[in-house]
Amino acid sequence: MACKLNAASSQWIGQQSFTQRNGSSSSTRLLSTPRRVSFPIQAKAYTDELIQTAKTIASPGRGILAIDESNATAGKRLASIGLDNTEVNRQAYRQLLLTTPGLGEYISGSILFEETLYQSTTDGKKFVDVLREQNIVPGIKVDKGLVPLPGSNNESWCQGLDGLASRSAEYYKQGARFAKWRTVVSVPCGPSALAVKEAAWGLARYAAISQDNGLVPIVEPEILLDGDHPIERTLEVAEKVWAEVFYYLAENNVVFEGILLKPSMVTPGAEHKEKASPEAIAKHTLTVLKRRVPPAVPGIMFLSGGQSEVEATLNLNAMNQSPNPWHVSFSYARALQNSVLKAWQGRPENVEAAQQALLIRAKANSLAQLGRYSADGEADEAKKGMFVKGYTY
Ligand code: 13P
Repeated sequence: MACKLNAASSQWIGQQSFTQRNGSSSSTRLLSTPRRVSFPIQAKAYTDELIQTAKTIASPGRGILAIDESNATAGKRLASIGLDNTEVNRQAYRQLLLTTPGLGEYISGSILFEETLYQSTTDGKKFVDVLREQNIVPGIKVDKGLVPLPGSNNESWCQGLDGLASRSAEYYKQGARFAKWRTVVSVPCGPSALAVKEAAWGLARYAAISQDNGLVPIVEPEILLDGDHPIERTLEVAEKVWAEVFYYLAENNVVFEGILLKPSMVTPGAEHKEKASPEAIAKHTLTVLKRRVPPAVPGIMFLSGGQSEVEATLNLNAMNQSPNPWHVSFSYARALQNSVLKAWQGRPENVEAAQQALLIRAKANSLAQLGRYSADGEADEAKKGMFVKGYTY
């Protein structure tokens, strides 16, 4: 295949000649200082749409409801309330979540598992249409999960690049407009340079392929909560990981205005002797974000990672106490769903109460996105931590 340089991507003119006039004499000099000419965003088929989608998702007071659990993980959620892991039960649970009246006020996007993207409500309405009617953008988990990374320190890598372009094109046809790829880095396992590089490169290749097919990539390098390390150690690791992620995103010509970053918050390891306050977590997290993440990225959509519902909301609220260059918001699964499952218990007569529980959490996080949340009056259930050692998604 012949390759040609894209004129739009060359931003500097190396040398420039000009004539300098001084009275009647004139001389011509060569300047070696480059002259900046423009900053075009590299034109791709979907660029404008990607930027618009990312902006819609990163809209004030809204965040993402993540319900993209693989069938195995969905089974664990259902087992926690005594239900079997059948397609009918998964459909009933997701129907409860997605048909919650008023959800679109607080939720701008929802990440689905492939089964849900192609599924309908029991009345036959496609879930993607249920979402669109509420101005919620449908998204899709596209990674194929974690497997051991040979040659590393017992670490893992994320599969799913094979066939990703054709799968993404199909997901777009079905109505998805953004994608998610979650890879993890473990602090107690090193992390090794190999694992960090593999995580960053995989995210960047996925992001480029997603954008090529009209899907805004959610770039999710999760630094696991596992470990007894202090918050300063998480900060060091996050600096390293985010630097490599953005380096490879740039190498792959990913349009930064058309991605969303989904990081974990910078906290101490879950087994560290001291807990950190929301203010300390916000300070450390924002420090690394400002050092490593370009303001061109429209949204930082945090994962909850095993924090309790209230913790995740308080930490987000603390991050929004002063203006940020980005929309700093949430893309929670566990921290939006825990109270819902408890309220539902798999009983049709509890659906309304469960939907109310979802709205309470969604509204709390919406307020936290705006920096206006208070935990006064929160239920004890919402304060229970959900950390699971070696958690898989
Ligand atoms: P949690 O908020 O449960 O950590 O989920 C993260 C995630 O990647 C969901 O899409």
